[in-house]
Amino acid sequence: MTIHIGAAPGQIAETVLMPGDPYRARWAAQTFLEDPVLVNDVRGMLGYTGLWQGQRVTIHGSGMGMPSLSIYANELLRDYGAKTLIRIGSCGAMQPHVGLRDIILAQTASSLSTPSRGIFRELNFAPCADFGLLSAAAQAASALGIRPHVGGIYSADIFYDERPDLNEIMVRHGILAVEMEAAELYNLAHRHGARALAVLTVSDHLQTGAALPASEREQSFADMVQIALQAAFSSPAP
Ligand code: HPA
Repeated sequence: MTIHIGAAPGQIAETVLMPGDPYRARWAAQTFLEDPVLVNDVRGMLGYTGLWQGQRVTIHGSGMGMPSLSIYANELLRDYGAKTLIRIGSCGAMQPHVGLRDIILAQTASSLSTPSRGIFRELNFAPCADFGLLSAAAQAASALGIRPHVGGIYSADIFYDERPDLNEIMVRHGILAVEMEAAELYNLAHRHGARALAVLTVSDHLQTGAALPASEREQSFADMVQIALQAAFSSPAP
């Protein structure tokens, strides 16, 4: 048991999928896992552990934004021995060739700042995905008939950002999409000798203002969960 996770020692699997939304964690666990057991509900942040194709998996919410994700990822890595963390979440597209429902595999995550800034100080550490997970996810997507975009994303601190110039700079540098968690997930995985990946679905488009209706979000979320599970177990663990 940690400050924010009520699970007993051993109740968290080495592989953890992390949606931002705790209700998505519940839905994914009930849809994809055999015998899902609720292992955390502290502050309503739901976590479940069950089996997928005979392998133990935990699906645990991260909350929104890097400070929230950092709390759960730190406790999962440091106290529960998690070895593989895969974020499954939504993002806003930043390039014209990226469409609604498209899947993005975040190779790198740029940011203005992360909770790790206190450690890195003047260093510009480059948060990047684990290559084994990234390439396994690309293969898993193509087995499902999905062609993912693979490239850099932007992990923003502010959803209602009043500095449009920051997005413009990201767009000019080919950044595919914006979300709010991956950069710190990658920092923490590197720090703790674990591997991480963010698999994202485009829920809205910053340039066109288009947004995915709620009714269509479930299917694209299901694709992400399958890609993440397949990637976790078809690539060698660290
Ligand atoms: N901005 C930041 N995070 C997001 C967005 C966005 O437009 N869409 C989904 N997550």
